Amino acid sequence: ASELEQIVRDHVHETPNFPSEGVLFRDFTPLFADGPAFKRAVDLMCEQIDAEGGVDVVAGIEARGFLLCSAIGYRLGAGVLPIRKAGKLPSPTVTETYSLEYGEATIEIRDGFLRPGDRVLIVDDVLATGGTMVAAASLLRRFGAEIIDSWVLFELLDLHGAKALADNEIPYKSAWAA
Ligand code: PRP
Ligand code: MG
Repeated sequence: ASELEQIVRDHVHETPNFPSEGVLFRDFTPLFADGPAFKRAVDLMCEQIDAEGGVDVVAGIEARGFLLCSAIGYRLGAGVLPIRKAGKLPSPTVTETYSLEYGEATIEIRDGFLRPGDRVLIVDDVLATGGTMVAAASLLRRFGAEIIDSWVLFELLDLHGAKALADNEIPYKSAWAA
């Protein structure tokens, strides 16, 4: 395993059957809570970003993506843009609704903070079906942003998020895939 993968695997807390039967919940609180491990993981992620032209904005997906996006944005000298779950922000906002296994979800960002051609990195903790990441990319692209890369700590291979991202031409990296 790469050094980054090893750090992530060594700093996960796994809970079977949460939040529902049959689901193995992976929580990265142990990584965020360990100063040297968190710093090293963020540094390694930043070194691997494919962005010859730099990154203007790091977009973090609520809620657990926020923890990563701020650190990565600071390290890159890029701005940070929170992608919120619907209903948290005053207008003007722009929203994107997407399907979940049961029902649907809506995410939104404040209008007025992305410019056409902005080079955006998306970050989140986990890639599962990819639905959230695809919706985030669609939302950002409506402003003319260019998705130059994405990062997740963990990719759940069984749910085929990689295909959803490939179908939508969203580049990404996962620190650990299993
Ligand atoms: C989880 C995870 C990702 C998303 C991945 O977030 O943190 O954001 O699901 O799933 P997908 O690839 O199937 O879309 P969740 O919605 O549980 O909320 P949280 O981050 O606010 O805890
Ligand atoms: Mg999430």
